[in-house]
Amino acid sequence: MKVLGIESSCDETGVALVQVDGPGTPHLLAQALHSQIEMHRAYGGVVPELASRDHIRRVVPLTREVLAAAGIALADIDLVAYTRGPGLAGALLVGAGFACALAAALGRPALGVHHLEGHLLSPFLSADAPTFPFVALLVSGGHTQLMRVDDVGRYTLLGETIDDAAGEAFDKSAKLLGLGYPGGPALARLADFGDPEAYDLPRPLLRSGNLDFSFAGLKTAVRTQVLKLGNVCELDRANIAASTQAAIVDVLVRKSLAALRETGLDRLVVAGGVGANAHLREELERESKRREFRAHYPELALCTDNGAMIALAAAMRLQRGLALSQPDYGFDVRPRWPLATAEIS
Ligand code: KG4
Ligand code: ZN
Repeated sequence: MKVLGIESSCDETGVALVQVDGPGTPHLLAQALHSQIEMHRAYGGVVPELASRDHIRRVVPLTREVLAAAGIALADIDLVAYTRGPGLAGALLVGAGFACALAAALGRPALGVHHLEGHLLSPFLSADAPTFPFVALLVSGGHTQLMRVDDVGRYTLLGETIDDAAGEAFDKSAKLLGLGYPGGPALARLADFGDPEAYDLPRPLLRSGNLDFSFAGLKTAVRTQVLKLGNVCELDRANIAASTQAAIVDVLVRKSLAALRETGLDRLVVAGGVGANAHLREELERESKRREFRAHYPELALCTDNGAMIALAAAMRLQRGLALSQPDYGFDVRPRWPLATAEIS
């Protein structure tokens, strides 16, 4: 079976083809991606209307590119999957509309996939794939969650952010330091030149006794620090970047360890854009050796939004025999959609 996946929830148009045969792990045949980062950079963040329009421009050429790279025809597609939510409503509608129209034209089923399910299953496309059950640390621009994952569609929320997401903390701190959008990778690069202990930034909720996160206070602390310094030199900026990254990573690592302890599980999957952060990976690797758990990550290219994770999630749902689309190809999108409610229907 060949599954076409369409991702359009935010500022990346992703298209990919995944092959699934029987109960084996699905594998990637081809993928193509267009990032809108350059277009949104001038505005310092994503402009939803521009995002939707660009998805419209990109989705057909990207689909052609993927089919050509895989050497297959449209008629060879068995299922068309798309991101149903969460995300920007207009952007989601482009992917959903295209996917359902294509599925209808081909007489194949369509399946709306949860974006975060795509992220947390994405390590199944890596050479070092996890096995169920595991704890998932989902760290993207909009979400920070710890989930217990027993199987596809069996997700239990263990804890989540009560305000900003980890990616947002990276992005907002980066903005305060005069770094461009998206701030996470830029702040991580600058942090390489700084001292992570230069500033003692807050680690909110570290001793809260639960698995929730809070990052809004960190951004305020960074702002206070920048204002206090007044004239911020290059070294100050690098030191603030390193200290900010250290604070975010420290909280993510310690809460992940607490989640492993609480669930008694020994596998951790880290997914979402912030999962690309090298310092986070180093710290988790160090802890995994000391505490005997395994950490699994998606391939670096699949950490941020992409079509492969959407095709993969659909393929894994298909393997478990779930219901597909309505026969009339009617669709809706869910800009807000808690993952724990995305069980197998
Ligand atoms: O998963 P993702 O691509 O999109 C969402 O679904 O939100 O995550 C994007 C987030 C942004 O906040 C970005 O700054 C952050 O991931 N990010 C990073 C790194 N690469 C991306 N944060 C820290 N270090 C990185 N290397
Ligand atoms: Zn994402």
